[in-house]
Amino acid sequence: MAKLYVNPEVKKGHINPELQGHFSEHLGRCIYEGIYVGENSDIPNVNGMRTDVVEALKEIQVPVLRWPGGCFADEYHWKDGIGPKEKRKKMINTHWGGVVEDNSFGTHEFMELCRQLGCKTYVNGNVGSGTVQEMSEWVEYMTFNGVSPMADLRAANGHAEPWKVDYFGVGNENWGCGGNMRPSYYGDLYRRYQTYVRNYDNEHPIFKVCCGANGDDYSWTKGVLDTCFDHGNGFMNGLSLHYYTVPYGNWEHKGQATGFSEEDWYSTMEKTMYMETLLKRHGAIMDQFDPEKKIGMIVDEWGTWYDVEPGTNPGFLYQQNTIRDALVAGINLNLFNKHCDRVKMANIAQMVNVLQAVILTEGPKMIKTPTWHVFNLYKVHQGNELVDSTMEHEMVGTEKIKAQKITESVSMDKDGRLYITLTNLSLKDGEAMEVILGQSAAKSVQGKILTGAMDAHNTFDAPETVQTADFSGVTVSGEKLSFTLPPKSVVQLEVTLEN
Ligand code: AHR
Repeated sequence: MAKLYVNPEVKKGHINPELQGHFSEHLGRCIYEGIYVGENSDIPNVNGMRTDVVEALKEIQVPVLRWPGGCFADEYHWKDGIGPKEKRKKMINTHWGGVVEDNSFGTHEFMELCRQLGCKTYVNGNVGSGTVQEMSEWVEYMTFNGVSPMADLRAANGHAEPWKVDYFGVGNENWGCGGNMRPSYYGDLYRRYQTYVRNYDNEHPIFKVCCGANGDDYSWTKGVLDTCFDHGNGFMNGLSLHYYTVPYGNWEHKGQATGFSEEDWYSTMEKTMYMETLLKRHGAIMDQFDPEKKIGMIVDEWGTWYDVEPGTNPGFLYQQNTIRDALVAGINLNLFNKHCDRVKMANIAQMVNVLQAVILTEGPKMIKTPTWHVFNLYKVHQGNELVDSTMEHEMVGTEKIKAQKITESVSMDKDGRLYITLTNLSLKDGEAMEVILGQSAAKSVQGKILTGAMDAHNTFDAPETVQTADFSGVTVSGEKLSFTLPPKSVVQLEVTLEN
C-alpha cells in the first residue's frame, strides 16, 4: 500500500503553463511535412500550416513553442528566411541529414504558427556562427514598433505590426554543436550578445535564456554563472538544461522505440528519473548565485531518444512512441511541477515527427501518440498552484535495475479544485493507494487513465490503439481516497473538495 499525503492548504509555487512547452526544429519532418505543408498543398491548411496538426496541438493547449533549433539555430541566418519565397536562399542542413533547406518556413511563418496555436514565442538566436549585429537586427525586425531599417523591412515583407517575442535563447548547446566553447568563453559571449537583445517593448520585456548544461555537466553551470551571472541587472532571466532519456545511457546502441525488453523498460525509467537529480543539483548551484530563485531553470530539451525507425533517414530522428514514452512524459511533467519554484519552462523534443513527438504524420495522415495523451491529461495543471504532497517511495525493476515505482504531483486551480497526476512504472504490479487530503474532505472525484501493453502504440492504420479511458473505482471517504493504481499507467484525478 502506498500513502500519498496531500496538504491542500500548503502551496509550494506557481506552475507556469510553459512547463508543458514544445520545441520544433528544422530537423527531418518536424517543420516541413509535419507542420508546414505550404499554401498550395492538397493537405488542408491555413496559410500553409496543416489544420489537423494545429487542431491537435490546440487541444493540448501548447503554451509556448521554441524554434528554429536546436543545433540548427546556430547555423541559421534569419534573413535567408524572409521575403518572397522564390527568392529565399537554399542551404544545406548539415546537422540533420544534409538535406536542402529552402527557407520557406521563416520568421513570418513561425509567428503565424504561434498565432494559430495561441501560444507564446521562444526564438533561439545564433551565437555559434552568427554575429552580434545579426542577432540584434533579428530582435529589431521582430519587435520594434516605429521607423527603423528592420521595422521597415518587416513592413515591406507584409507585417507592419511588431510581434511579441516572449523568450529568446542566446545560442544553443554552445558547449557542443553551437561552437564547442568553454564555459568562460561562452559566458563572455553571452554578456556581449545579450546586450543587444534590446527590449523595444517595455511592457513585454524579452525573457533571455542563457545556454546551460548538458546533463550532469555541473562545471558548465558553475563556469557560466561565474562569468555572467549579473546579480539582478537583467542580463539573464533563465539558464537552460538539456537532458535526453537514452536506455542504459548508451548513445551507440539506444535500441528501438518498439519491441524492447523488460530490462530496457526499467533502464529507460531509471534514466528518466535521473532528471530529478539534475534539477536538484543544477538547482543547488543556481541557489548559490541566486538564492531568491529569480532566474528560471529552462529545460528546453528533454524526452526519449532511441534508434530511428528502420528504413528512415538516420539524420531525421524519427521514432515511434509507446506506453513507455507515456510513462516518461508523465514522470517528467510531475518532476517539473514539483520543482516549479526553480523550473519555469520545459520543452519536449520535439513536437512532430522527431524524437519523443506528440504527433506523427505520414502524408495526409496524422496520429496522436501516447505522449500527446499524457499532455492532454496534464494540461489541467497549467497555471495552477503546486500543492504540498509527499509519498513513501518503493523501488521496482529487475535484479540489476530499479526505479521509483510511483511519482505524483498535485495542484489546485483558482476555483479550489485539486488535480492529482500519478504514474506507476511497474510492468506487473498495481499499487493500492490511499490519498490523505489533510484537513479537507472530498466531495467527488473524477479520474482518467492511460495504460496498455508496454510497447502499445498508435499507427496510421490503427490510430486509436492507445487512448485515455475513464478511471472509476476511487472510493471517497471523507479526507481519504482509496483506489488501485494499475501497472504501466498514467492517471489524472480531479477532486472537488467540500467547502
Ligand atoms: O533535439 C535534437 C538535437 O538535440 C538538438 O538539435 C540539439 O540541441 C540536441 O543535441
